[in-house]
Amino acid sequence: MKKSDKPVDPSRRKILKGVSAGIVGAYSITPKLNAKNLPQDISDSIEGKVKLTLTVNGKKISKGIKPNTTLAEFIREELHLTGTKLVCNQGECGSCTVFMDGNAVYSCHLLALDADGTDVLTIEGLLDKDELHSIQQSFVDEDGLQCGFCTPGQIMSAYALLKNNSNPTDEEIKKECLVIYADAAHIPKYLIPLKMQ
Ligand code: FES
Repeated sequence: MKKSDKPVDPSRRKILKGVSAGIVGAYSITPKLNAKNLPQDISDSIEGKVKLTLTVNGKKISKGIKPNTTLAEFIREELHLTGTKLVCNQGECGSCTVFMDGNAVYSCHLLALDADGTDVLTIEGLLDKDELHSIQQSFVDEDGLQCGFCTPGQIMSAYALLKNNSNPTDEEIKKECLVIYADAAHIPKYLIPLKMQ
């Protein structure tokens, strides 16, 4: 008997029938579930998204996001606030620091969903209209920008430090604001004004 003459095994035929029914089922169900009049949470979950609500720089924001989105990705890619920088992207350098509910956090190392319901401040939110915040001004005055890439992270770390401790010691400034310069023996000039705020 040739291979093509061989009768199809009934159990295999049954399986194939089942698979195609599953595909057809998926196509016929999807459009209905995507209908606009469905509640938001159902249509979000179909696209693999969940709802995130938080306040960023004083504005309340509600968006559907993929659950694995980090806070840094959300801030940069969804809100287009690119002042928050990604360097190591693994919670080591501090360049992505933002201020969340009273504390400095590494936004690359936090899921955006962990920020649900919180109040987040990014470097863009420090500006008061066109006025630089005093910490930003001290970086300018003391020429502390260097290449500038990690500057937002350092400024946000300094902001968080001063919010929680108005008279930090040299050691506290080094610990909180010099993650990138962990070996620095002295406090750079641009951080000295922090001691006089
Ligand atoms: S980019 Fe987040 S800690 Fe380095």
